[in-house]
Amino acid sequence: MAKLAINGGKPTREKPFPSWPIFDENEERALLEVLRSKQWGIGGTKKKEFEEKFSSYQNAKYGVAVTNGTAALEIALRACGIGCGDEVITTPYTFMATATAILYVNAIPIFVDIEPDTYNIDPRKVEDAITEKTKAILPVHIGGRPANMDELLKIAEKNNLCIIEDACQAWGSEWRGRRVGAIGNIGAFSFQSSKNITSGEGGMIVTNDKELYTKAWSLHNCGRLPEGAWYDHYLPGGNYRMTEFQAAILLAQLKRLDEHTRRRMENVKYLNEKLSKIDGISVLKNDERITRSSYHLYIFKYDPEAFGGLPKEKTAKALQAEGIPVSVGYSKPLYKEPYLEYFKKCPLSCPYYGKSVDYSNLKLPVVEKACYSEGLWIGQNVLLGTKEDMDDIVAAFEKVKENIDELRSKL
Ligand SMILES: Cc1ncc(COP(=O)(O)O)c(C=O)c1O
Repeated sequence: MAKLAINGGKPTREKPFPSWPIFDENEERALLEVLRSKQWGIGGTKKKEFEEKFSSYQNAKYGVAVTNGTAALEIALRACGIGCGDEVITTPYTFMATATAILYVNAIPIFVDIEPDTYNIDPRKVEDAITEKTKAILPVHIGGRPANMDELLKIAEKNNLCIIEDACQAWGSEWRGRRVGAIGNIGAFSFQSSKNITSGEGGMIVTNDKELYTKAWSLHNCGRLPEGAWYDHYLPGGNYRMTEFQAAILLAQLKRLDEHTRRRMENVKYLNEKLSKIDGISVLKNDERITRSSYHLYIFKYDPEAFGGLPKEKTAKALQAEGIPVSVGYSKPLYKEPYLEYFKKCPLSCPYYGKSVDYSNLKLPVVEKACYSEGLWIGQNVLLGTKEDMDDIVAAFEKVKENIDELRSKL
């Protein structure tokens, strides 16, 4: 008789994990307050309050609340003066928006490999990729795990480059006690539905630099100046303003973030300890410089050889049938995405660039291994569960491993 749930056996777990988003009467009250105030956009106070509270939460002096994380990245790049023909060095292990933001400002994403034990951009590879066209480094704190900011800052300083942090998964994450986002010149956050604090959609730019703040503020508000007239437009901006409804929800969500982060970190510590005892599962490096992590994603490694040669997709399906929402994550490096074809003429071979970039021959071994065979993810909502919930995750892995022959024979 089949043991594995995927073959008709009894699942390890039939209860759901905590669902997302989480809200209560605080969000309800905040939304009604905005509704009744009739100040739904410009003129209200919630956006400004959220900009102040969130930027200060991230140890940044200034914040600009915008429509989403993609817009936040694009505005951050424009504020730094990145444009036609400029190269921006970034990671291929990220969501597509990291690269589209660069392409939208007509700059060129230069993808370099990630570190095998962190899945973040490898600073040594960044240094090797610098050319006379390089203007910025765009690290992503993947899953909420801060990239190596010590090394990246050194490289940026030595080569006179900007650092734009993609902190779209990293609310509250810390590198040596300092919250991410404004460790470099400027950073971007997302509050889209899956994110650890959410208003359905939303984003934020943070910085400690007054000039960058003023530019970002103008770019998100149709090129206006903070004290300028309504119909005077100085920069090529657009309307990227966050609404009062979004800001009101986010103010309520922010109050829960510390407690949620504490719980996720505690559960990850427990999972790291238990899962790493299973032959074929290993965890990312424990780095003491990371003093806090949002764990938007719990990313860990799978070795197909130890699971009878089964690809991660098959094992993930078996685990899902056991009631554990494990995902394979990014299934290809960003430079393999078909959408890049649309940028082939401009900016990738634009005359202003004077060169041409063709990603079809690019092969970065660490990210390819992470995407094709190694990386597995568990989402942030699952990490809000109890210790017993985490035990179910471990038990399901053990069960699938013990019954790997049954899984292989049914393929
Ligand atoms: C790493 C990363 N960068 C950028 C974004 C873009 O954010 P948004 O979806 O809010 O535009 C996301 C969101 O999914 C992300 O995870």
